[in-house]
Amino acid sequence: MKCKGANLNRAIKDLFIAGTETTSTTILWTILYFLNHPNIQARCYKEVQDVVGSGRLPSMKDRSNMPYIQAVLQEVLRIANIVITGPPHTVDEDVIFNGYVIPKHTVVFANIDSVLADDGVWGDAGVFRPERFLDENGQLVKRDEFIPFSMGRRVCLGESLAKMELFLFMTTLIQRFEFKPVNPNNLPTLKGILGLTHSPTQYEVIAVPRWT
Ligand code: HEM
Repeated sequence: MKCKGANLNRAIKDLFIAGTETTSTTILWTILYFLNHPNIQARCYKEVQDVVGSGRLPSMKDRSNMPYIQAVLQEVLRIANIVITGPPHTVDEDVIFNGYVIPKHTVVFANIDSVLADDGVWGDAGVFRPERFLDENGQLVKRDEFIPFSMGRRVCLGESLAKMELFLFMTTLIQRFEFKPVNPNNLPTLKGILGLTHSPTQYEVIAVPRWT
């Protein structure tokens, strides 16, 4: 019984650690991209107004009617790429991959960045362009190369939860505030800092309430 309790304790800590920094860092990146692209922020606000209005909070029922905001969040996850290599894994038997032998017990990392930042895949990988995730009718398109949560059997356990949280937090923030730079002539840098996650350089923002 003691062992089960310790496992549960560890599992809850794992979920907490893996689930907080990642989501909050993505929100910080989204606001930073809004400061650098006010037209994109304005289009998100229009979608919130058209679908939700200001009389109630956004809910998950609204998500399928808000493809633009979903495309913006996907583009933030792609370009900011907060878990650049993913955590380390170990091969549990000798593996031959593309002609290379990877011996048992070798530590391997998945270079997620090699896909999310690949010009061969995206054409203009360095450009913040949410439209790449929309079709000609403005509907969300699925791109197999969109792998910020990694892929395969060890894909992020919290992918659905993270997408849900990001949608609810961001739509509510967009509904309530307009984000403005402190100095429009000197926008905060989009250059990130690489640590446990890839996070934005510290910046200041003015959150102007949309109600009076
Ligand atoms: C924007 C948010 C998030 C991103 C970008 C993200 C990304 C990732 C990535 C790249 C991995 C590594 C997968 C691999 O080993 O190949 C991972 C693993 C994991 N994530 Fe997330 N994550 C996010 C949010 C969350 C949330 C909200 C939770 C749970 C509350 C969570 C729980 C986990 C767990 C438990 C693992 C380990 C899975 C395993 O090793 O089997 N993540 N995540």
